Amino acid sequence: MALKITVIGTGYLGATHAAAMAELGFDVLGLDVAPAKIEMLAAGRVPMYEPGLEELLARHVDTIGGSTGRLRFTTSWDELGAFDGDVHFVCVNTPQKHGEYACDMSYVDSAFTSLAKVVRGDALVVGKSTVPVGSARRLVGLLPEGVALAWNPEFLREGFAVQDTLHPDRIVVGVPEGPAGETAEKVLREVYATPLAEGSPLVLTDYPTSELVKTAANSFLATKISFINAMAEVCEAGGGDVARLAEAIGYDERIGSKFLRAGIGFGGGCLPKDIRAFMARAGELGADQALTFLREIDSINMRRRASMVEMAREALGGGFLGKRVAVLGATFKPDSDDVRDSPALNVAGQIHLQGGQVTVYDPKGMPNARQVFPTLGYADSALDAVRGADVVLHLTEWREFRDALDPAELAGVVASPVILDGRNALDPVRWREAGWTYRAMGRPTA
Ligand code: UDX
Repeated sequence: MALKITVIGTGYLGATHAAAMAELGFDVLGLDVAPAKIEMLAAGRVPMYEPGLEELLARHVDTIGGSTGRLRFTTSWDELGAFDGDVHFVCVNTPQKHGEYACDMSYVDSAFTSLAKVVRGDALVVGKSTVPVGSARRLVGLLPEGVALAWNPEFLREGFAVQDTLHPDRIVVGVPEGPAGETAEKVLREVYATPLAEGSPLVLTDYPTSELVKTAANSFLATKISFINAMAEVCEAGGGDVARLAEAIGYDERIGSKFLRAGIGFGGGCLPKDIRAFMARAGELGADQALTFLREIDSINMRRRASMVEMAREALGGGFLGKRVAVLGATFKPDSDDVRDSPALNVAGQIHLQGGQVTVYDPKGMPNARQVFPTLGYADSALDAVRGADVVLHLTEWREFRDALDPAELAGVVASPVILDGRNALDPVRWREAGWTYRAMGRPTA
C-alpha cells in the first residue's frame, strides 16, 4: 500500500511538495492554518504565481473531475489526525523576526506542537523548513516518544518550484543515530525511491549538517551575487564592464557562469533572511567570526539598491521632485509574483519617498505590490507606465521586457528616452539604436 503523506504548511514549498507527492502516487493531505489558502488549493487554484503548479494540482486534487483524487486539503488538525498519515512533512515558513536578524520559529514550533497531539506513535515527521542549526534536536523533544524525526531541507527556486521538486539536484536527509535514524532513513528512501530521486544523489547525514546545508547553500549563492556586484562597483570606478568580466571569469569551471549577473542585487523570501538568520545563529553559538563576511555580503547587496536610486537621480539632473519615473518590474525576480524584500519595489519606494512620481508595471506582481506599497502609481502595461516618463528603470528582468518591448514605440511616448537597466538584461545596442540613452550598473556609458 502506498504511504499516506501529510504536508503541513502550503506556501510555495508545501503546496508544491504536496502536489509532487501526489504525482508520485502517494495519498496526500495538505494542511494550512490560513483558510483562504486552503480554499483555493482545494479548488485546484494556486494562491501565488508558480508556473506548472496549477496543472499539477489539477491532475490530483480530489474536487477536480478526471483527477487521481490523491490530493486533499484541510485546515483541521483533527482531520489530519484521522487521515492517519505515515509521513508528515513540515513545510511552514521561518520569516525574519521583526527588527531582528534571527528567524521566527513560532510557526514551526506551533506546527510541531499541534502535530504531536494527533500523530500516530510510529509515524515519521520530516522537517523541510529552513531552520537554525540545532532546531531538529530541540524539536524532536516536542514529539511523542517513538515518533521519528528527519530533517530534509528543500532547495527549490520560486518560478521553478515544480521542476526543482520533481527533479532535485540532490536530496539531503539528516537523521539521528540509532534505531530512530534507521527507521527514518528506511521510510524516506521509500518516499524518494521514485522517479523523483532518479539521478539525484542522496546525502545522508546528521541533523546539524542537514540544517546547515541549506543555509550554507543560500549563503554561497548570496556571496556570488554580492561578489559580482562588488566587481560592478569597481568597474564603475575604473571604467570596466562587469558583464564582460562575469562572462570571462565564468568560463573557468571552478567559478561557473551562474549567479554572476550584476545589478540591483538579491531579494525574495529566502536569500536575505537566510544570511541574516545564519549570522544570528552563529553569534549565539559563539562562531560569529566565521560569518562576519556575510555582513558585508548583505551590505553590498543593500548598497546596490541605493546606487540605483543615485543613478536615477543623476539621470534626472540631481533631484526627483516633479519628475516622472517609470519602473518596469516589481517582483524580486521574474516568473514570480513575490515582492517580499524585492529590490525593484524597494528602489521604486525610495524614489517615491524622495518626491519622484513613480509609476510601476509588472507582469505578475501588481496585486502584491499594490498591497505592500499602495501609495505608488501603477499602470496596466509597460507602455502606459513609461508614458511621459523622464526616466525608465528596468528593475526585474521579465522576458516580456527583454523580448516584447519595442524600444522605438516606447521612445515615442516618453518625455525623455533614458533607460537605466538595473538587471543588465536588456540589449544595449537595440535600445541605443532606437534613440535611447541606455545605462546599466557596472558598465561604461556609451
Ligand atoms: C533561492 C535559492 O536559489 C533556492 O535554492 C532556495 O531554496 C531558496 O532561495 P529564490 O529565492 O527562488 O531561491 O531565488 P533565486 O533564483 O535564487 O534568486 C534570488 C535573488 O537573486 C533574486 O532577487 C535574483 O534577482 C537575484 N540574482 C540571482 C541576482 O541578482 N543575480 C544573479 O546572478 C542571480
